[in-house]
Amino acid sequence: MKKLFTAAALIMALAACSGQQTNTQADPVNVSSLGQSAITDIRAADAMPIYPKRGASIERDFVHQPPMIPHKADYKITMKRNGCMSCHSWDKAKKRKATPIDISHVKDDKGSLNNQYYSCTQCHAPMAENKLQLVENTFSNK
Ligand code: HEC
Ligand code: HEC
Repeated sequence: MKKLFTAAALIMALAACSGQQTNTQADPVNVSSLGQSAITDIRAADAMPIYPKRGASIERDFVHQPPMIPHKADYKITMKRNGCMSCHSWDKAKKRKATPIDISHVKDDKGSLNNQYYSCTQCHAPMAENKLQLVENTFSNK
């Protein structure tokens, strides 16, 4: 019990030092969001992303480009499970009508994933048709 009090007192003392007392008066914050509207503004939600139809791949722009992901990409990639592999692994791809992972991504003839490629979204990004352009993009492959 005594320890608990000491800990509580310590926490209170620290909170006082850090100067982070709760501010009950919300001041306007001078930061802008991606949509370029003040953070305090109430605005309509962004348009929902529209992905290409299921089964369609997006044309590649240069040789060895990691193909863009033609669907939502919020499948979980955790230490224990790779959500992308549940469709793109060599043994599941055919059934899921997905392209199996590239030969460069595997380490044996059974298609076991080379873990250097574990973090799929490090190289593959989703591409959707968005009504609003969020950030300017001047990419050219010329
Ligand atoms: C529910 C099954 C499923 C899951 C989960 C899934 N995909 Fe896909 N993926 C597909 C299908 C179906 C296609 C369309 C067919 C194709 O082009 O492979 C596709 C297409 C792709 C393509 C384009 C391939 C090409 O040749 O153009 C990439 C890249 C891709 N997915 C990456 C990912 C990544 C990264 C994840 C995890 C964030 C993921 N996918 C999770 C089913 C899935
Ligand atoms: C280090 C970057 C990198 C990572 C990480 C990566 N990829 Fe790729 N991926 C590529 C590149 C580059 C290609 C194109 C290969 C080529 O044409 O040489 C590719 C190709 C593919 C293809 C198309 C294969 C084909 O035959 O057309 C699929 C599907 C794919 N990757 C899925 C995945 C999945 C799923 C993961 C995660 C388990 C992943 N990739 C991780 C770079 C990466």
